[in-house]
Amino acid sequence: MQARIIDGKKASEELNQETAIEVANLARSHNLQPGLAVVLIGDDHASSVYVNMKAKKTIELGIYSEKIVLDKNAAADEVLQVIARLNKNPKIHGILVQSPPPPQMDESLIVRAINPAKDVDCFHPVNVGKLLLGENDGFYPCTPYGIMILLEKNGIDTVGKHCVIIGRSNIVGKPMMALLVQKEKGANATVTVCHSMTKNISDHTRRADIVIAAIGKAEFLKVDMIKDGAVVVDVGINRIEDSKSPKGYRIVGDVAFEEVARKASWITPVPGGVGPMTIAALMRNTLKACKLQNNING
Ligand code: GUN
Repeated sequence: MQARIIDGKKASEELNQETAIEVANLARSHNLQPGLAVVLIGDDHASSVYVNMKAKKTIELGIYSEKIVLDKNAAADEVLQVIARLNKNPKIHGILVQSPPPPQMDESLIVRAINPAKDVDCFHPVNVGKLLLGENDGFYPCTPYGIMILLEKNGIDTVGKHCVIIGRSNIVGKPMMALLVQKEKGANATVTVCHSMTKNISDHTRRADIVIAAIGKAEFLKVDMIKDGAVVVDVGINRIEDSKSPKGYRIVGDVAFEEVARKASWITPVPGGVGPMTIAALMRNTLKACKLQNNING
């Protein structure tokens, strides 16, 4: 079997198109423009690239954008002051502080400082709690939300399916588990979460109908770790050396794409799979934040 490609670029373009239309409608009906602030602390190259991609997409969709860059040695107080200012700013409906912050900074302090109503990442404990409870007035975290939309758009049913998530991060693994397990349309899966202390990961992944790889290890999931016809979702973005590439490296996911694609039924590529969906989901959340803050339904 040769897997069908789950095209995240196409799905994200469709979703972004819908968002842009709703943003335009909101301007017409309520004279409102959703606003997103992205905050980058430090000069990590990858984080800087992601933040720029988010700011660019925001503007493209007609959303108001603010980008704030702070020094990598910024004091925690300075970051908290920036967040306090954004919390009060009526033009800003969503606040995103790119993760991870520099090592000396306590991320939980930053996350708790963001007004939960503006927490479009769904990192604040209030929103994480709502997510687990299945309450729908918070936000879904961008990457897992993007994956749920990607599965749905490709007609990949999760009901009663065994989903095995590799990785237990707060950004992907844990919220992915919370979304898939909900008693809700488009979820209702049986979920296993594997991590660095799991014994014999292959024993779990080989029983999976859907495998979600989110561990940050280049090409970790090999062909002998999945069953025939499994759906494979690759969240990884890893740099590996490649002397043939002009840059000296190339980007690969957490899945050994070529070999796994020969056995899977569906697979997401890297790039062009989950990545663009994460940003499209962020745009949805920003629009939702704006509507919620202005008591607009639908
Ligand atoms: N770093 C990697 N993914 C994300 C994300 O979805 N949001 C934020 N804030 N930081 C990230």
